[in-house]
Amino acid sequence: MGKKEPLYERFARELEAQIQAGTFPEGSRIPALRESSTTHDLSLMTVLQAYRLLETRGVIEARPQSGYYVTFRPRGTALEAEASPARGDPTIVSIDELSMQLFRDNHEPDFAKFGAVSQDPELLPTARLNRIVGELARDNAFNIDTSDYPEGCEGLRVQVARRAFGYGCRFGPDELVITAGCSEAMSLCLQTVCRPGDLVAIESPTYFGILLALESLHLNALEIPANPGTGMSLDALEFALENHPVRAVVAMTNFSNPLGSLMPDESKRRLVELLALKGVPLVENDIYGEIYYGDRRPSVAKSWDESGLVLLCSSFSKDISPGYRIGWVAPGRFLPELRKRKMALNSGTSVIPQLVIERYLESGGYDQHLRKIRKAYAEKTSRMYRAIESCFPAGTRIARPLGGYVIWLRLPPGVDSLTLYREAVKARISIAPGYIFSPSHKHRDYIRLNAALWSERTENDLARLGAIVKRLAKTD
Ligand SMILES: Cc1ncc(COP(=O)(O)O)c(C=O)c1O
Repeated sequence: MGKKEPLYERFARELEAQIQAGTFPEGSRIPALRESSTTHDLSLMTVLQAYRLLETRGVIEARPQSGYYVTFRPRGTALEAEASPARGDPTIVSIDELSMQLFRDNHEPDFAKFGAVSQDPELLPTARLNRIVGELARDNAFNIDTSDYPEGCEGLRVQVARRAFGYGCRFGPDELVITAGCSEAMSLCLQTVCRPGDLVAIESPTYFGILLALESLHLNALEIPANPGTGMSLDALEFALENHPVRAVVAMTNFSNPLGSLMPDESKRRLVELLALKGVPLVENDIYGEIYYGDRRPSVAKSWDESGLVLLCSSFSKDISPGYRIGWVAPGRFLPELRKRKMALNSGTSVIPQLVIERYLESGGYDQHLRKIRKAYAEKTSRMYRAIESCFPAGTRIARPLGGYVIWLRLPPGVDSLTLYREAVKARISIAPGYIFSPSHKHRDYIRLNAALWSERTENDLARLGAIVKRLAKTD
């Protein structure tokens, strides 16, 4: 039998976990001794001992006449501890911690934000959405039974089905489920078609949100190589299907994150046929489909789906608003099961944001808005691409994205993306290290840069990043 943990140590451990979780952020005041004693049913002495223990560890500090506060720590410490274990094994990296760190970096006011994929706020129709909120409130439209159907508001589903018809899909509004973003759509699809322990084929590299979803659903990933031109290798997928019990495939057919690749129509058709032959469902992520640089909206694999095995997911997070959290899924033959899961999960997506997006889509102006942002993102990406060419050292290889707004690049030989990430953070620059785009951390010599916030002002930050890469390339 192990020694029983003293009460004060257990309370200190629980409180420290809450501090690390951000319940009590750096600099915030933690509950007073008496308050903790009451709420946790502990003696004042036990709480005091716990606080002193945390004080000794540098987690909190006492301020005279004021109470206890969470101490400020030098940036990057938490990540350092998580990402570089004592034995110095660079393959052990926590994807969830690193990806959360990227989001946190994005909220640091003085950071150059090349890490997380955030949109340019100037390129979101925020003023129009705000006006719609006012209109709907005046019309008393929010005074509704918010327990709408689990599949979401009909009017919004009609808008989505109409648009999808425009790029070759033949599903009706009744074959759609509105979700809280594309993330929930993908997660519901995986829950519906897989069971814990199943094997899911994914592109490598892939968007780390997909990896997090697989992990949380206890699914195993099988990495299929993808290239910056055409995306997932279908030959490799075919081989995988022959040799492994693949239960589902997840693919970003249009402008993958991070590659920016575009699967040609012929390959989309082959992908659908291949999977139909094997009876394997495809979770297709088309979140960037509208942000194309070419002259036409690319197709989706779903448009060739005869057997109902394709579950098409998307959202309005990239082009209308990430904050409204409105996404959708056309789950094909899995509709009844997926709808049931959505019902069990949260009875349906929040109705108010659905009504706002619905009114925005039906009131016209979306197409014009899309034309504007496509042009702007194509320009930003192209400018950033050229700037990387000129300020990164020889040996850097850049993938030219065909849509979306991220750039995937290979660092010069010997430069590790996690080392670069840490050095960049010290210089207040955020990047996405290649590690987080594969469950086996394959792409350690790659980074992803977000081009959406590119402007003349960020040129200098990119030059500083290029200088760090140069320095690391020399020292390695
Ligand atoms: C490929 C991909 N899928 C899904 C998401 C998340 O979408 P949402 O915010 O709509 O949940 C992102 C966000 O970056 C993404 O890049």
